[in-house]
Amino acid sequence: MDKLLVSVESEAEMIAAGKTIAADLKEGDVVALNGQLGAGKTHLSKGIVAGLGSVDKVTSPTFSLVQEYQGASLRIFHFDFYRLDDVSELLRLGWDDYLDEDGVILVEWADKFPDLMPEGTYCFDLAIKADGRHTVTER
Ligand SMILES: Nc1ncnc2c1ncn2[C@@H]1O[C@H](COP(=O)(O)OP(=O)(O)O)[C@@H](O)[C@H]1O
Ligand SMILES: [Mg+2]
Repeated sequence: MDKLLVSVESEAEMIAAGKTIAADLKEGDVVALNGQLGAGKTHLSKGIVAGLGSVDKVTSPTFSLVQEYQGASLRIFHFDFYRLDDVSELLRLGWDDYLDEDGVILVEWADKFPDLMPEGTYCFDLAIKADGRHTVTER
């Protein structure tokens, strides 16, 4: 069953939630972040990246498709499939090689291409509720 992890009312709380998620991540893990524009996927990513010990600035990889950060003991690859229309673009970019890396992969809008996500991917759904709070649910 889906599990509600948090209901947060600020960007700072969303970042804190990301740090909590990061505490359970290890080399090779893939994290799918889904939910409408503005739901907080990039803010949750900021928390995850910080929680993995990186001081790198996290921005939305909407145009670059992927951004790389250096964590304390591993690299982090941050993807955004929002503008991706064709998987061949991602395969040309070396998606399979990224999966082989000993890093952590974060993917915003992963639901656009669910078949690309490997077995064992951690999947989080973000939503904005009527009261304005943002929720994170683990699938
Ligand atoms: N509780 C909250 N958690 C996360 N973002 C929030 C929250 N409340 C308001 N926001 C705002 O919502 C937007 C979320 O943006 P972002 O993290 O880029 O979302 P996404 O990557 O899902 O499009 C930001 O403008 C942020 O300031
Ligand atoms: Mg985003």
